[in-house]
Amino acid sequence: MDKLLANALGQDVNQLAAEERRLLLSRLLARFAHEVRNPLSSLDIHVQLLEEDLAQSAPAVQARTASRFEIIHGELHRLENIVKHFLSLAGPSALDLHPVELKQIVSHVGDLLRPEAARHEIELLIEADDSVPPVPADAAQLTQALVNLVINAIQAIGRQGRVNVSIGWESARGFSSIVVRDNGPGIPAEKAAAIFEPFFTTKTEGSGLGLWIVQQIITAHGGFVTTANAPEGGAVFMVQLPLRSGAAPHG
Ligand SMILES: Nc1ncnc2c1ncn2[C@@H]1O[C@H](COP(=O)(O)OP(=O)(O)OP(=O)(O)O)[C@@H](O)[C@H]1O
Ligand SMILES: [Mg+2]
Repeated sequence: MDKLLANALGQDVNQLAAEERRLLLSRLLARFAHEVRNPLSSLDIHVQLLEEDLAQSAPAVQARTASRFEIIHGELHRLENIVKHFLSLAGPSALDLHPVELKQIVSHVGDLLRPEAARHEIELLIEADDSVPPVPADAAQLTQALVNLVINAIQAIGRQGRVNVSIGWESARGFSSIVVRDNGPGIPAEKAAAIFEPFFTTKTEGSGLGLWIVQQIITAHGGFVTTANAPEGGAVFMVQLPLRSGAAPHG
């Protein structure tokens, strides 16, 4: 992947400092996002046209295709959001901060990913503490970060298992937390330092950008992400967000 990055921009990535690499990456993301956007919107239009064509077909055919179209629209929408997100990452950080109920965010992510989890016989449990006060956050970006963490958890388990997402807060330290735990194999100690690096992946189909994006989003909020393995096995990712904007969590 480093090679691809270098070829794409005609530079030797290995000679660049970490900060320069990140800059390069954001430029590559911007280019990528721009180029994916056009075929994506054309795809969107053609799927709509196809749907209109099929509206004239036999009811049985319509019934069979309706749920497929729903999935296609959902996935297209997700891709568009990813592209939009890449563009926003590449540009000056544009957080749209509003008081956000973490409970709503985690419940929404639960609804989004439960079908995917179920396909892998994985139970997705959301434990939402009602007492957590609203935090200043960009709801769409926070959702994206959480989706990345839960998808990683599902992929780490593979088949049959459990993912827990819980929220909490500590008023004395001035932060709220979202914790994602899975009962997969956990993170090998020798890889723990690398997993947040852009392009680090152990998956054949992975881009290695998921956790890097999570970190970008959370640090833009003044928060941080930490990871550990649970004593009983499995990985734990903890996102901490300040309860007030501008106040980084401490303690
Ligand atoms: N819950 C987890 N359990 C075990 N290992 C994990 C977990 N989450 C992430 N990892 C490790 O961290 C690596 C980097 O994760 P990241 O989300 O950045 O990229 P990816 O999942 O490999 O690719 P992409 O997110 O683009 O699909 C993963 O390849 C995996 O090795
Ligand atoms: Mg990932």
